[in-house]
Amino acid sequence: MVKGRKVKEPVLKLVDANKSWVIGENTIPVLRNIDLDIFPGESLAIMGPSGSGKSTLLHVLGLLTSLDNGDLLFKGKSIRGPGIKDKTIRRNFGFIFQDAKLIPELNVIDNVCVPLIHRGIWPVEQKKRALEILNKIGLGERVYHFPNQLSGGEIMRTAVARAMILQPTVLLADEPTGSLDSQTGKRISDLLLGTVTPDMALVIVTHHQPLADCADRILYMKDGRLGDSHQGGSFRESAASSPPGPPAKAFDNVHKRSLIKSFLGVQGAILQKSPLAAGGNK
Ligand SMILES: Nc1ncnc2c1ncn2[C@@H]1O[C@H](COP(=O)(O)OP(=O)(O)O)[C@@H](O)[C@H]1O
Ligand SMILES: [Mg+2]
Repeated sequence: MVKGRKVKEPVLKLVDANKSWVIGENTIPVLRNIDLDIFPGESLAIMGPSGSGKSTLLHVLGLLTSLDNGDLLFKGKSIRGPGIKDKTIRRNFGFIFQDAKLIPELNVIDNVCVPLIHRGIWPVEQKKRALEILNKIGLGERVYHFPNQLSGGEIMRTAVARAMILQPTVLLADEPTGSLDSQTGKRISDLLLGTVTPDMALVIVTHHQPLADCADRILYMKDGRLGDSHQGGSFRESAASSPPGPPAKAFDNVHKRSLIKSFLGVQGAILQKSPLAAGGNK
């Protein structure tokens, strides 16, 4: 039974989804006939052995990877990733990568502002929104730090802030506590689970049983199939985070633009023109 499920219609629905990776002459089936309904207001944990297809599934759900066949519906409407052009749909998805994927040459506040690019929001307003969310998650004292000046937990919190800034309807997190010690991991888990509102859904891929246990439901991947029963295998715990390093070096706007472009490329967005004239790394 899912706590807080008030609306019957899933926000995201996967129907008979299949996905294979083709490497040379080999075709590797990774997702096999997956049906999945994700409801607003719920948190869903996905567990399973390494290589079972969890990240691929999350990337499909986040429009970062396309399906071979089957369908993905957002609020009942069929959508296609990753070539989806409809930015109004795309902005409903927030993604937290396992390794955070912060842009090393941008400070915390500029990293958090990246998803606001091309939204027609004034730079001052962008920073105001970023500051609000950073204060809320306890990073108000770190806004001008660069990623290599942050602890592992602070890096992940920055990634959470970046994913949250557009107030996504679907928030997807791939092993967000995977590289953190258990105390820091707990803080990130609490933060993520605390973001869930009746209008949004959270999907977390995790090996961390205590985190999964806090979600409304747990599904298990094995050999590309998704089920609701644990199918064996033990799950590993995390290692400690790395210590802060020296400040990042200065860089020019061309470099900065290409970094942002590559991040947006990862997110599957289409970069039409540079936003950098409007704001910058102070
Ligand atoms: N971009 C890719 N190209 C080719 N094969 C991939 C790619 N991404 C993942 N795979 C393969 O798909 C399988 C599932 O990977 P993944 O979804 O990352 O599993 P998990 O997250 O459960 O560890 C693995 O065998 C992996 O090697
Ligand atoms: Mg993975």
